[in-house]
Amino acid sequence: MAAFTDAMSRLVSGLAVITTRRAAGEPCGLLVSSICSYSVDPPSVLVVVDHASRCRDPLARCGAFGVHVLGSAQEDVARTFASRGADKFTGLAWEWDAAVPRLRAAPIYLRCTPTAVFDHGDHTVLIGEVTRADVAEAEPLVFYRRLLDWRLREGGGLHP
Ligand SMILES: Cc1cc2nc3c(=O)[nH]c(=O)nc-3n(C[C@H](O)[C@H](O)[C@H](O)COP(=O)(O)O)c2cc1C
Repeated sequence: MAAFTDAMSRLVSGLAVITTRRAAGEPCGLLVSSICSYSVDPPSVLVVVDHASRCRDPLARCGAFGVHVLGSAQEDVARTFASRGADKFTGLAWEWDAAVPRLRAAPIYLRCTPTAVFDHGDHTVLIGEVTRADVAEAEPLVFYRRLLDWRLREGGGLHP
């Protein structure tokens, strides 16, 4: 429904890269805007993944996944993980944090253990309990009206 997608394009959201390890051992990851705080006790996030994503099956079966909330300096990382590239990790600084591929550039990193995974329609809902949270100061990467590069300006307002 066009009015629905138009309405949702006006909802300001942050962006995060969700990562995990495939059964064969290699890392995988995708960009999502559907990330939110789910509960404080226990500390949990909610992420929604399209069944068409190649990360859907690894995420639905994983023992841990990573949430990387991106800053305004990571627009290139956002585009890489929104792509269908064969190896999105080549050329990026990353390391294993237990079984989770951790991107060094992201200012906010959460390591999560899935506590609920269920399908609804053509998406999978993942609720993850946060077992590690690292936070560095950075301007957020904002997604608004189908553009990645909106910025929050000092003194108020959101500008491309
Ligand atoms: C701004 C933006 C937000 C997105 N949000 C989501 C999302 O919340 N969930 C999702 O499954 N895909 C989302 N996507 C699409 C995936 O990032 C995209 O389909 C990606 O190619 C999937 O990669 P994969 O097949 O390697 O997993 C979003 C893409 C963009 C550009």
